[in-house]
Amino acid sequence: MSNTVVVGAQWGDEGKGKVIDMLAESADVVIRFQGGNNAGHTVVVGEEQFILHLIPSGILHERTVCVIGNGVVVDPAVFLEEIDRLAARGVTVAGRLWISDQAHLIFPYHKHLDKLKEAQVGAGKIGTTGRGIGPCYMDKAARTGLRIADLLEPGSFRLRLKQNVEEKNLIFRKVYGADGVDFEKILADYTGFAKRLKPFVAATPAMLNRWVREGKSLLFEGAQGTWLDLDHGTYPFVTSSSATAGGACAGTGVGPAHINRVIGVVKAYTTRVGEGPFPTEFDSELMETIRTKGKEFGATTARPRRCGWFDAMLVRHAIQVNGITDIAVTKLDVLDELKTIRICTGYRLDGKLLESPPATVEAWGHLTPIYEEHPGWLRDTSTAARLEDLPEAARRYLKRLEALLEAKISTVSVGSKRDQAFHIERGNEGK
Ligand code: IMP
Repeated sequence: MSNTVVVGAQWGDEGKGKVIDMLAESADVVIRFQGGNNAGHTVVVGEEQFILHLIPSGILHERTVCVIGNGVVVDPAVFLEEIDRLAARGVTVAGRLWISDQAHLIFPYHKHLDKLKEAQVGAGKIGTTGRGIGPCYMDKAARTGLRIADLLEPGSFRLRLKQNVEEKNLIFRKVYGADGVDFEKILADYTGFAKRLKPFVAATPAMLNRWVREGKSLLFEGAQGTWLDLDHGTYPFVTSSSATAGGACAGTGVGPAHINRVIGVVKAYTTRVGEGPFPTEFDSELMETIRTKGKEFGATTARPRRCGWFDAMLVRHAIQVNGITDIAVTKLDVLDELKTIRICTGYRLDGKLLESPPATVEAWGHLTPIYEEHPGWLRDTSTAARLEDLPEAARRYLKRLEALLEAKISTVSVGSKRDQAFHIERGNEGK
């Protein structure tokens, strides 16, 4: 059976949740491999909208098993809340949701530090989601983090939590002049969480590899996007995990030889939430139009997303660093009312054409995007059920993206509902 990784090829919010939901129908297992509840995957089922921050979007298919891999950072309060919210809407998870015993835990001191660090740097802030993601990964790399397995060993957990709280409280008081956090309260809360978490905890790498041997089909659900990846993104304006396809192996314990397909999800334009470079960002008038039509507000923080033209330079690079085999284009319908549509084909820096995007934010700030213009289609595409239903100018736009990206588009989405998307049958592209 085929094992597929789905990643964002822009700055996150590409519509991965919807693509996962479509693919989950024929997958046995859906696995999150990085990030935490900074993500917000929106899936519309019938008239109901579900926003999932931690639990894989595959949970909305009754027969699909879902796994939160070792590479994810887990806020246990959010995990349990999400289970309760799903249960209240009739989605049961018992026996089909597993969480890695090696996944690191987010604590209140991580969230406190995330917010204090952002407030301290002022104008240079990253614009994080404030969910404690960065500080949790900092502790993981510093080897002082506490994992779900540690939570289930009460004696040593208490000791190590105490050491961590004492160290963090020193930092809060001495560096930031802020209040500390309360050890006893955290201990009591997390002891309570441990009881409820226990039935979901598993040694997931062994479990996943057994399923691979049995020929089950695995779907790896990326969060954020390539340009927010810790290594490959617009550093330092990135998240703290590996949001690229390689992260799927490290974050689950399934080796790269078992991955057959990597789908890169892109919007038909570009968005970014938070600070950092964005060469094709719209001016304010177009920003308002697309933001309103595309409902471009963060699923986690409700912040307005910055919007801009499709940037082929960004996506071309994402295709390389992820080994993307095919592309899913989402939100094509959002461009329906534009008379002309631009695509950025490359960048110039100091008059020179760049072969790949630069490494420093200073250079990003001086780039000049190179654009080509295409006629808009000025027709509603939201009911298209096949490539042939799209207006000719829309098909030409997609064909031009394929040529610039040197990659095939396999899926097109034209709205948020489950039936507002179609796969492209090869051989139909030229019609
Ligand atoms: P953090 O992941 O909360 O540390 O935030 C770091 C950067 O990643 C900020 O610019 C956030 O806005 C951005 N970010 C984190 N998660 C997402 C996401 O799921 N979608 C889009 N942007 C995100």
